[in-house]
Amino acid sequence: GRRLVVLISGNGSNLQALLDAQQSEEGLGGQIVAVVSDQADAYGLERARQAGVAAEVLPAGTYTSREDYDQALIRLIDDYQPDLLVLAGFMRILSPAFVLRYHGRLLNIHPSLLPKYKGLHTHRRALEAGDNEHGVSIHFVTEELDGGPLVIQAKVPVEVDDDEKTLARRVQVKEHLLYPIVVRWFLQGRLQLQGDQPQLDGQPLPKSGVL
Ligand code: GAR
Repeated sequence: GRRLVVLISGNGSNLQALLDAQQSEEGLGGQIVAVVSDQADAYGLERARQAGVAAEVLPAGTYTSREDYDQALIRLIDDYQPDLLVLAGFMRILSPAFVLRYHGRLLNIHPSLLPKYKGLHTHRRALEAGDNEHGVSIHFVTEELDGGPLVIQAKVPVEVDDDEKTLARRVQVKEHLLYPIVVRWFLQGRLQLQGDQPQLDGQPLPKSGVL
């Protein structure tokens, strides 16, 4: 079967959605073989252990240079021989060498309608801008931070009385629906990156990410 490694830094609610999908009748198209965190106290590690999945920590301060950290991370990940690597709230910037190594088999979920609001504090920025819609993007990871080819997006409305918390919660509902679907597509061999163009069942996905 196909093998999946999930990288986290915190709560791991997206990891939980993937674990739940794996347990469902439909399955995930493969198996989560390890969860790796750069934070020893990430709650997602507990979720992994509860599900009987290997929970690994490579603490953020282990190496002074990003390159050395990422080489150690590569060694740790490659012990599990994953077909797909999924970033699920992994809050480190990855070096070019890391991104290159997993080109075409590295996915990220980002809480904005990319290319809007790359980086941090996306919900706050959407509110401050007065946007009336916001959402989530899933994309293949390339060297450009939050700039890789879009697979799919989901939109949510911004309500007049929203704060960061209520808006984040509305976006997360979509995250938890969307990530298992995209991961299943990949593990079933339906989703591929051809050059810089993601394809689903051999058809290019729209550049907008909106299906
Ligand atoms: C998610 O909302 C994800 O989109 C975001 O972190 C959260 C992690 O939540 N990712 C980023 O901001 C990446 N730059 P989780 O740990 O509960 O899945």
